[in-house]
Amino acid sequence: MKNILVIGATGQIGSELTMELRKRYGNENVVAGYIAGAEPKGELKVSGPCAITDVTDATMIENVVKEHKIDTIYNLAALLSVVAESKPMLAWKIGIDGLWNVLEVARIHGCAVFTPSSIGSFGADTPHVNTPQDTIQRPRTMYGISKVTTELLSDYYHTKYGVDTRAVRFPGIISNVTPPGGGTTDYAVDIFYSAVKGEEFVCPIQEGTFMDMMYMPDALDAAINLMEADPSKLIHRNAFNVTSMSFDPEMIYKTICKYIPDFKMSYQVDPLKQSIANSWPDSLDDSCARKEWGWNPKYCLDAMTKDMLEKLRLKFK
Ligand code: SER
Repeated sequence: MKNILVIGATGQIGSELTMELRKRYGNENVVAGYIAGAEPKGELKVSGPCAITDVTDATMIENVVKEHKIDTIYNLAALLSVVAESKPMLAWKIGIDGLWNVLEVARIHGCAVFTPSSIGSFGADTPHVNTPQDTIQRPRTMYGISKVTTELLSDYYHTKYGVDTRAVRFPGIISNVTPPGGGTTDYAVDIFYSAVKGEEFVCPIQEGTFMDMMYMPDALDAAINLMEADPSKLIHRNAFNVTSMSFDPEMIYKTICKYIPDFKMSYQVDPLKQSIANSWPDSLDDSCARKEWGWNPKYCLDAMTKDMLEKLRLKFK
């Protein structure tokens, strides 16, 4: 990776991934691609090149790739699960038509492409505990349908045209920088904001609902280390199960209470979020990622909780 384009650079993952890539590969070599209305701000804006890059516009992507001699594209443009249910056509347009644009540009200009999939690519028929790498993927949400299609289309471009496509299936990502918008796992971020602000947290997900989660520093490592991996070792490509932890609302609540003993949580279950969560795995088997490219997350629930609370306390001081 020498010259990198991040599409969706102002989103939840993109904003931190762009900064991490700039740290590792040089500020000038990482272009923050954004859409109108979501312009980069602060450090993201001033620390390196930025370019308007709408994933639904192939010519625009191609112009940025040519101008900056891009060899690697991180394509992070997507709608999260709950929003995708209210805007299914837009979710498809961004997630699939957009990916097609990226893959075509990559094929013509010889770029490697990372496009994340998700735990949402599984469905109710998938084994829920220790979900295998290769298993049934029949999701019923538009988010899940678009993620399975992402995996298949990315593999297609690899086998048919030799495009170097690679991806992980991200679980819920927890971070203290850019909040997520409209996902099923967002509660695991929101709970920290309530805790630090001294407010009661009203949880939209039922007690006993387990989902895989990951702290942002590990998510960034996953995205970068997979793209750096020796291709001869990759049996899979699109996309690898990766996880750091699996918990239900009670477990994260009790972990936060170790640091903020008077923190209160109540439940008001959101039926849409709950039905999506019920169809997702309780825990993933990520042994293929560990074996094929050395995936090894650093943060467990307790270490993440400590760090999240420290960082958010500084933010709200
Ligand atoms: N965080 C995503 C969501 O909840 C899942 O990958 O939509």
